[in-house]
Formats: sequence, C-alpha cells, structure tokens
Amino acid sequence: MPHQPDSPPPPLFTWEFAADPYPAYAWLREHAPVHRTTLPSGVDAWLVTRYVDARQALADARLSKNPAHHSEQAHRTGRVGIPGERQADLMTHLLNIDPPDHTRLRRLVSKAFTPRRVAEFEPRVQQLTDRLIDSFAARGSADLIHEFAFPLPIYAICDLLGVPAEDQDDFRDWAGMMIRHGGGPRGGVARAVKRMRTYLAELIHRKRADPGDDLISGLIRASDHGEHLTENEAAAMAFILLFAGFETTVNLIGNGLYTLMNQPAQRARLQESIARGESELLATGVEELLRYDGPVELATWRFATAPLSIGGVDIPVGDPVLVVLAAADRDPAKFDQPDTLDLARRDNPHLGFGHGIHYCIGAPLARLEGQRALATLLTRLPDLQLAAEPGELRWRGGLIMRGLRELPVSFTPEL
Ligand code: HEM
Repeated sequence: MPHQPDSPPPPLFTWEFAADPYPAYAWLREHAPVHRTTLPSGVDAWLVTRYVDARQALADARLSKNPAHHSEQAHRTGRVGIPGERQADLMTHLLNIDPPDHTRLRRLVSKAFTPRRVAEFEPRVQQLTDRLIDSFAARGSADLIHEFAFPLPIYAICDLLGVPAEDQDDFRDWAGMMIRHGGGPRGGVARAVKRMRTYLAELIHRKRADPGDDLISGLIRASDHGEHLTENEAAAMAFILLFAGFETTVNLIGNGLYTLMNQPAQRARLQESIARGESELLATGVEELLRYDGPVELATWRFATAPLSIGGVDIPVGDPVLVVLAAADRDPAKFDQPDTLDLARRDNPHLGFGHGIHYCIGAPLARLEGQRALATLLTRLPDLQLAAEPGELRWRGGLIMRGLRELPVSFTPEL
C-alpha cells in the first residue's frame, strides 16, 4: 500500500487543474493511486492513476459499462452517462453495454468499419484538410480550434457515414452544441441529441431503400450468423461513431498542435522529417502526442458489479471507477522520462485509445486524421506560432475530455 502523504492532495477539477492536471495526477499516482473523490457533479467515484492498475481495470469484466449498475446515488442525481440520456435507444451503444451484447454489436460494426475502408478514405481526408486550410491561409491568422480542428472530424465522419453534404452543417451545429455544453446546461444538448436521433432514423430508412458504399449502408448490410443490426442499433451505432469520433479528434489535433508549438526543437525535427517525405516520425509522433497530452483524460464510466480490488484497494459494488488515462500515460513506472515529449519514442504502449474489449474502434481513422492534419498544416504554414501567451488559453474543463477552447495562431499568409 502507498504510504500516507504529509501534504494534502492537490485540488482536483479547478480551472488551474484543467490547465495542467499533470502535477495533481503525479501526486495521486504516488500517494493515492486508487482514490475516492467527489466529482464536480456531486457523484463519488474512484480515480485510478497508475498504469498497471489502469490497464488491469480497463480489461476487468467485473467493471460494467452499463450505467444501470451504478449505485443509487448517481441515479438520484441523474448524472450518469452523457446528457440526453432520455433518448434511451441512442444510448444503448458500445460504450454503455457489456458482453454478450457488446460482443455481437462490435463484431457487426467491425465488418463495416474496416481498416481498409479507412485507408481508402485517405484522399478525402486530405482534401477536407486542404479545403479548411484554404479558408484561412491567406489571412495570416486563425483560430485553429474553430476553423480547423473542430470542422475536420465532423465533416470526415459525416462523409464516412454517408450523411449528404447538404446536411453536414446541421451536424456541425449539433456537435458544436454538445462540445460547448457537454458538462453544462442540459436542455440544448438534449435537443441536439433528439434532432440527431430523428435525422439518423430517417437517414437509415433512406439507406435501407437505396444503399450506397458508405458506412451506414455497410452497417445495415453487415450480418453475423444471419444476425443484423436492428434499426435502433444502427442508429445508436451511427451516433456513437459520431460522438466518440468527434471531440476526441478535435482534441488530438488541438492538443497536438499546442504541444508542438510549445516544443520548438521537437517540432522542427518533425517538420524536417515531413519535408523529406518520411512518414515514420509523423506516425510515432502522433502516438507520442496521444500519450503526452491525449484527448481522453479519463476513460468513460465503469461500475463495479462484484466486489473487486484495484491496486490493493477494495471497491464496493455499484461504485463508479474512472480510469485516468492521462495519469497512467505519464507513469514513470511504465515510461522513461514520462514528462518529456519524445516524438521518436518507440516503446510506447500508451492507453490513449483505451485497452481491452472497448479499445477504440476508430483508432485507424483518428491516426489518419491526426497525421494528415498535422503534416498538412506544418507544411503549408511552416512558421505557425501561438498568438497568445500559453497562460491565456482556456481549457474546456469537462470531465472525460481534455481540450482547448481556442487556439489563436499567426503565420506568414499563403500567397
Ligand atoms: C472507444 C479514444 C477517435 C469511435 C474509445 C476509448 C478511448 C477512445 C479511450 C475507450 C473508452 C473506454 O474504454 O472507456 C479515442 C481517441 C480518439 C478517438 C483518443 C482520437 C484521437 C475515435 C474515432 C471514432 C471512435 C475517430 C469513430 C469514428 C470509438 C468507439 C468506441 C471508442 C465506437 C467504443 C468502442 C467499444 O466500446 O467497443 N475511444 N477515440 N473513436 N471509440 Fe475512440
């Protein structure tokens, strides 16, 4: 068991913490690696911060993803899952279910959302990336969250799913509502989720009658031992692909660019490597950015369905467990010099995409978008620099995700 600390635990979930949670996580890893705390929502949960415990918890079948297993307290306060929960059918998605349902649905989606489909999508991602940069390149300044990191993933996932171009701006608005108010007021988010739900139901209906080679048509077509996704399951799947694939990728691009602009030597190395047409440092670099300051700070909720012990601490049944990926990925027991950014890091089994049966199904797409976004931006706007003091930038301060609200930059305008 870890020894009792002399100093009190650093405050969690304050604005200072949101700007730089890593010192607090280091303290927890050292002194209270499995730590019960009250979240800003009033719900009590366990934070797991050491790599070895985090990896084990992510793969532990006694930790359910189904919010029905949460103890009374959370249901009373209504703070389980994401806002809009009353759209119950949309919420029965991969991140809220356990085997055997999870196994069946994941197998079906894997048949449609293949690495090959993602690889074939590369030219389209490149085109979207260039089009977005075109919209501000001549200006000499931009907010890279609003004008680049935010729209890219939403248009990419809409295209992949088969949402027609004329409807994609609606998705952009709904997604904007979710990202802005993810942890805050519920009314607008619930409305956005409801609109998305209605839209997806109609779209699935249309694709069933007139299939294309998009992912939604693929989901409808996918079968396993004669089983198909029901209409509700297909809608929930489309929703989670959008929802899980959106803010995460915004933050991979946003946090990644921010980190690179603050680390000129590493950035210069990457730019030289990209200019030589190499892909290796870009690939290891994106993994390192996921480890160093990844988009998913805490893995999504898990609930103890049987008594279990994590790192020697007993977790009562019904208690929520939050695995702190951001803390595990800076654990000196696992990574050499964990607080140093090393884009060439080779041995890098980071948990940024999770681990176990819920491991991110969108990882190939996220890597593709992350690599294209960073490489294209650094090539076209090579002298890109922050147009704010680092301390002036605001972080979102949500519970699960870590990301910037804005990223103002300046650069020599493109002719
Ligand atoms: C699951 C991270 C992009 C779809 C996860 C999990 C993590 C993660 C940590 C596991 C959560 C847990 O176990 O609690 C990320 C990061 C991304 C990213 C860091 C971007 C950099 C995407 C994209 C998509 C996607 C682009 C889809 C288009 C999903 C889905 C799951 C998931 C559907 C649930 C899988 C399951 O429960 O079986 N992701 N993700 N993600 N991700 Fe991603």
